[in-house]
Amino acid sequence: MSFCKCRSEIEKILAEYGNKQEALIPCLHAICAKCGYLSEKDILFLSEKLNLPKVEIYSVATFYSMFNLEEKGKYIIRVCISLPCYLEGSKEILKTLKKELNIKSGQTTKDKKFTIETVSCLGVCDKGPVMMINEKVYENLTPKKVREIILKLAG
Ligand code: FES
Repeated sequence: MSFCKCRSEIEKILAEYGNKQEALIPCLHAICAKCGYLSEKDILFLSEKLNLPKVEIYSVATFYSMFNLEEKGKYIIRVCISLPCYLEGSKEILKTLKKELNIKSGQTTKDKKFTIETVSCLGVCDKGPVMMINEKVYENLTPKKVREIILKLAG
């Protein structure tokens, strides 16, 4: 079976755990760290190696929010929708992003460049509305600023 760039790391973890089911969580972590998400192929591979039904692996993967089952964009945009940011206009920020990128919250653009997500407080409530793109925080946003940021990243 062809496998992605995380394969050698997975093989190492499996060898370390002797293909025991305890290897599941470390393997899921390793796949997400290397590849960003768990593909159907990854799940099938682990199911065979660990002798676990696929449904059990999906159930573990969906239980923990740190595991992604869908490929995300190069830029993950997280818009704070907690009350202080909401009162400062986070709804408009989200609306602008959705319009500019032509996707809904939770979706990724077809070119795999952008993903929009909503999150609770990012810890800079006095500077709302706020969003985070990957590791960078953007404060005191306006729809105009959002369009400029997106244009710059898209280029
Ligand atoms: Fe938005 Fe805290 S409420 S950063």
